[in-house]
Amino acid sequence: MRWIPVLSKRTLFIYFILLFLLYLFYALNSCLVDEKTFTLKYVFLKQHISKYRKVGVRVASLFGFNFDDDYQYTRLKQNEVPVKRLPDALIIGVKKCGTRALLEFLRVHPDVRAAGSEVHFFDKFYHKGFEWYRDKMPPTLEGQITMEKTPSYWVTRSAPKRVYAMNPSVKLLAVVRDPVTRAISDYTQSASKRPSLPRFEDLALVNNSAGWGTLSVVDASWPPVRLGVYARPLRRWLRRFPRSRLLLINGERLVVDPAAEMTRVQEFLGLKRVITEKHFYFNSTKGFPCLLKSESRGTPHCLGKTKGRSHPYIDPRTIERLRDFYRPFNERFYQLAGINFGWP
Ligand code: A3P
Repeated sequence: MRWIPVLSKRTLFIYFILLFLLYLFYALNSCLVDEKTFTLKYVFLKQHISKYRKVGVRVASLFGFNFDDDYQYTRLKQNEVPVKRLPDALIIGVKKCGTRALLEFLRVHPDVRAAGSEVHFFDKFYHKGFEWYRDKMPPTLEGQITMEKTPSYWVTRSAPKRVYAMNPSVKLLAVVRDPVTRAISDYTQSASKRPSLPRFEDLALVNNSAGWGTLSVVDASWPPVRLGVYARPLRRWLRRFPRSRLLLINGERLVVDPAAEMTRVQEFLGLKRVITEKHFYFNSTKGFPCLLKSESRGTPHCLGKTKGRSHPYIDPRTIERLRDFYRPFNERFYQLAGINFGWP
């Protein structure tokens, strides 16, 4: 029983403080949850935590420290209750061009709230109505942007008209990348689900299996090839929306310099420039930029393993055929977009 005198009042007090700090640390981290668990309970708990943090920040500032940057998730105004709203901005495509990366990077911003998974309202579930759609959205505070990404909107013929009916001022974002790489990426995704899929070369070119001596032409009807003809869908969207309402994001630059591309995105959405170089690091194992922290996770993390897969070897002659095929469509796309993406 010699341990009893060791636990003096002072020691107990220190233990209590340590336990309390541990609890605060735990509560704070479990609060930075993903959209699916974003509930009112979470918000109220967060309000309490923000009070403690505010005191902490004030005390720290007395000693000359500035916690402004780490303080970005606590913008809740007292007694403000978040509500679900229809989206202010949509990522409409293009499939396999980096749409998930764009959304995940945007979610770092405290003024952006996005539905976690693709909602497919304007293509599959339009008949369910706008109330159904609103319910799929995360609750937001006034001034926060509600977003959703469904890449198939890009090629859904009725989508521009339907989106316009929801809100003619909605902001549209589309990521595009070299259509040849996009087609290979699309194929790689299908092949990962169906290992018995024929070779890319045999699907992309008609008559290819008969050998290179025969005249093989690009199969423009094969979806991975067809989706890379960006000019057609762009024309459809621009019939409804002015060019200024649609931001085209360079998928290659999103990998090479994500911070620069995110600066354009934040400007377009009228957001304060919060997402910067300091949010990214290059993961050499993955070969892609990853996030140092985000709203849902305080530790460095990359996108899941379905993003950034290694691509199979493709015969360079097939690549050349595809490049020749896309060249005139790319030119048309650059004209409509007013941007030369410089794809080979
Ligand atoms: P691959 O997996 O073929 O490399 P989407 O999200 O629209 O389906 O696009 C997936 C593609 O996003 C990936 O295709 C990858 O090239 C690209 N991408 C861009 N930035 C990425 C990142 N930071 N991490 C992983 N993939 C990224």
